[in-house]
Amino acid sequence: MEPLVDGHGRRISDLRVSVTDRCNFRCQYCMPADGLPWLERSEVLSFEEIERVVRLMVGMGIEDVRLTGGEPLVRRDFPRLVSMLSPIEGLKDLSLTTNGYLLERDAAALVGAGISRVNVSIDSLQRDRFFQITRRDSLPQVLRGLEELAKHPEVHPIKVNAVAMRNFTEEEAIPFAEFARSTAFQVRFIEFMPLDADQNWTPDSVLTGEELRQIINSAYPIEELPREPSATARVFRFADGTGEIGFINPVSEPFCADCNRVRITAEGKLRTCLFSLHETDLREPLRSGASEAELEKIIRDAVWRKELKHHVGEPGFRQPPRTMSAIGG
Ligand code: 5AD
Ligand code: SF4
Repeated sequence: MEPLVDGHGRRISDLRVSVTDRCNFRCQYCMPADGLPWLERSEVLSFEEIERVVRLMVGMGIEDVRLTGGEPLVRRDFPRLVSMLSPIEGLKDLSLTTNGYLLERDAAALVGAGISRVNVSIDSLQRDRFFQITRRDSLPQVLRGLEELAKHPEVHPIKVNAVAMRNFTEEEAIPFAEFARSTAFQVRFIEFMPLDADQNWTPDSVLTGEELRQIINSAYPIEELPREPSATARVFRFADGTGEIGFINPVSEPFCADCNRVRITAEGKLRTCLFSLHETDLREPLRSGASEAELEKIIRDAVWRKELKHHVGEPGFRQPPRTMSAIGG
């Protein structure tokens, strides 16, 4: 089959699939304290529908699939979906982004089902500050989940992602650097993006990767490693040889020019950018008997129109109506 390409010449090889809009956390930068009106169960794609779309898109050149939410592990029987997707021929990498709360329960099942890599979101290594951000006092539970997962060497790497926010993450930089140096977990800071329900984002609320790099570098000198094509993170190694740390800088250094991603929301909308204001429904055709060829055409047409770049921080930027939890990280 022809590769999946957009109208700006980018090969699309990475798909993120949100399996639920629900979450058991209420992170400040994502959800309101009271949660959001959840989708009805019937509105959410079934495992069979997800499998069909993923299989089709892998046939079109998708190589990496990441399962996200909301919080994917709150979806009932989630490891079964992993076991349906992992054998798909041509799929090189099947990964998961989770808040880690249910990992202690699910790690073994996920590994058995064939998950290859896992990212766990942790914004603070101090219990009270973790609570402040997530509105859940769950740092010990998440760390237990991380340890449980680390018992399975098949899952590699295990990354810890922290959202970088001004007046918060400055204090986390050194503890996370020390965590990265003393454990096998790979730490990544992600600049805060305007995808929060409360619309509190301002350009100044972003703590940039460069600012964090300087804080860390002054305590533990770091040196940049060569960047892989379409990698979103700039990765640095500690000059003394112990460990590495990365910075994902979508706001201060957009990487749209070699973006290779598209996303599908829990209710089956294809989104070609995190910040898309337009999306393409796949659920209706899936449920009304569309053929593989018809679905393929809908996907190719939508991908062709993928946005050239995001306009975060530019005058006139409009925040999409969906929050991160309703898009899929
Ligand atoms: N900006 C940056 N990252 C975010 N995430 C959620 N909301 C935001 C935001 N507004 C992150 C989560 C998780 C992943 C799914 O996306 O922390 O790591
Ligand atoms: Fe839940 Fe992830 Fe959003 Fe936090 S960032 S509220 S863990 S979906």
